[in-house]
Amino acid sequence: MKAVASSALAAWALLVVLVIALPVFADAGLNQQEAEGRRVMQRAQCNRCHEVSASDNRPAADGLPRAPREQSCVDCHTWILGTRGDTQAIERQRREYPDWDRYLQNIVHLTRLPHLGTVARRVEPAFLRRYLDGPFDLRPHLEESMVPLRLSASEKDAVVAYLVALSGRRSSTPPSVNEAGSPKPEVVSQVRINEGRRAFLGAGCAMCHVLGGERLVAGFTPSFFKALGPQAMLAPNLQFARERLKRETFVAFVQDPQSIDPHVTMPNLGLSREQAESIADFVLNTPIQFAVAPPPVPPAVPLLDREVPYSEVHREVFGLICVHCHMDPASNRGDGGAGNTGGLGFKGKGLVLETYAGLRRGLRRPDGTRLDVLVPRPGQTESFLVEVLLRRHEEARRDGVPAFATPDLQRSPIDPDAPGMPMGLPPLSLSKLSLVKTWIAQGARP
Ligand code: HEC
Ligand code: HEC
Ligand code: HEC
Ligand code: HEC
Repeated sequence: MKAVASSALAAWALLVVLVIALPVFADAGLNQQEAEGRRVMQRAQCNRCHEVSASDNRPAADGLPRAPREQSCVDCHTWILGTRGDTQAIERQRREYPDWDRYLQNIVHLTRLPHLGTVARRVEPAFLRRYLDGPFDLRPHLEESMVPLRLSASEKDAVVAYLVALSGRRSSTPPSVNEAGSPKPEVVSQVRINEGRRAFLGAGCAMCHVLGGERLVAGFTPSFFKALGPQAMLAPNLQFARERLKRETFVAFVQDPQSIDPHVTMPNLGLSREQAESIADFVLNTPIQFAVAPPPVPPAVPLLDREVPYSEVHREVFGLICVHCHMDPASNRGDGGAGNTGGLGFKGKGLVLETYAGLRRGLRRPDGTRLDVLVPRPGQTESFLVEVLLRRHEEARRDGVPAFATPDLQRSPIDPDAPGMPMGLPPLSLSKLSLVKTWIAQGARP
């Protein structure tokens, strides 16, 4: 990480300057609110994860430039993984980054996320606005989650206005939270729903999509979906389609996805209008079924009965997962990451997890004093660090498995004032939690 970060300093510095300077003169095609949305997204660094380029009927300058690779979670990860299987490229990188082979083994997450530049051509603005208030997992095959947003209502309005403008679909009425949610249910006969179900299964939609908690095809397990790879990874749970898409958009999208949203990876299956209409009858009207059993509650974290050295917790947890947002600014040209010096819309808590000293210094409270994260807060049994790691388990229990969760579990949003860690990533496994807890219990020695 450190080695990657220290390379090509001058070039990145120039890019950063360009990226900062761009918005000053690139607002030309946008009205005031849309330009504000663009500034909010730039400030909150949405482009560290999402691509936000304009649709082809908009000036390219209206889009957000990609974050420099140095900062972009997705671009840096795909850059590294892109050398897989290319022995010459790996050989070259090894000379500069001796740990390149380990990077190739370790990186799994943040490699492909939804494109936001044209998402509003498909998804209704009212849905996007509600989503920013309480993001939840739409895509059951994607382990990452959207991060909680600490933005004001008017900033979120501006973001949606900007995404709508960027997509080339200018809505005359600005979206508001109070706008009616789901469209009125149509009256569709059971016969048509059944026909639609057959068309849906016949067209192979269930290869990539789930609908509620229903396993539409026996034997399609989560590992099957995973094996399908990138084309299926972003496929949303279609239970949300009735809130997200107008019926006519649904029908047109299913016939020719790229004509509606050029950035989606769903294949064009060559369906006729009649087939698409029939599938819409089914997907938009069949009662949604949920799994009966609620997802498991996070278990108690057991202590290990062996010695756990710092080097091990650093290798497995802090240095592998946390460092990307809790860096030591000295080794990253002043950038301490979202959880330390700020980013992703957060001010940062002055918590460095790249070094032992940083971890011992703990975090900065609002009044400027420091909080030792290795001891429990009053009335708590777990250290604050473990408490925050368990919060992510609780969040994931609520929204991490929508395909198998009940609606009330799906829609209880993450509290942006007390986000669980690692933010937006799968909760730590029980064995990693045990490592952290045991190391702390044994005195948290260097
Ligand atoms: C750390 C990575 C990360 C950052 C930063 C991030 N997002 Fe996301 N976002 C995600 C992930 C992951 C998803 C997909 C969640 C899902 O579908 O299950 C997502 C989904 C979304 C969606 C829903 C897309 C759809 O198909 O409807 C919107 C809208 C969105 N993000 C907006 C934003 C905005 C605005 C920002 C900046 C303020 C932002 N995101 C920053 C990771 C991120
Ligand atoms: C400059 C390149 C670079 C950037 C930028 C970057 N990463 Fe990474 N990331 C890496 C490398 C290299 C590894 C493997 C680290 C190791 O093996 O110790 C990694 C591994 C990870 C892992 C653990 C493996 C996995 O996939 O779960 C997480 C989590 C992670 N990064 C999150 C992030 C987040 C969040 C961001 C954006 C805020 C980010 N990274 C930005 C290079 C980068
Ligand atoms: C090979 C995998 C694959 C197959 C097969 C597939 N899709 Fe998709 N579908 C996707 C992906 C991926 C996306 C989302 C792309 C994105 O958000 O970037 C998507 C998006 C959608 C959406 C938009 C949903 C939303 O909430 O935004 C609808 C509707 C949809 N698909 C319906 C269908 C139907 C109906 C079929 C069968 C005729 C089908 N899909 C077959 C992969 C697939
Ligand atoms: C995607 C970025 C990201 C990753 C990855 C991440 N953090 Fe954070 N972390 C943040 C942000 C942003 C904050 C500040 C939140 C706030 O202001 O309330 C934070 C705050 C914290 C806090 C203080 C929480 C509070 O409520 O005061 C702790 C403790 C913490 N992180 C631990 C971790 C640990 C341990 C990991 C790795 C397992 C980790 N973080 C990974 C972004 C991240």
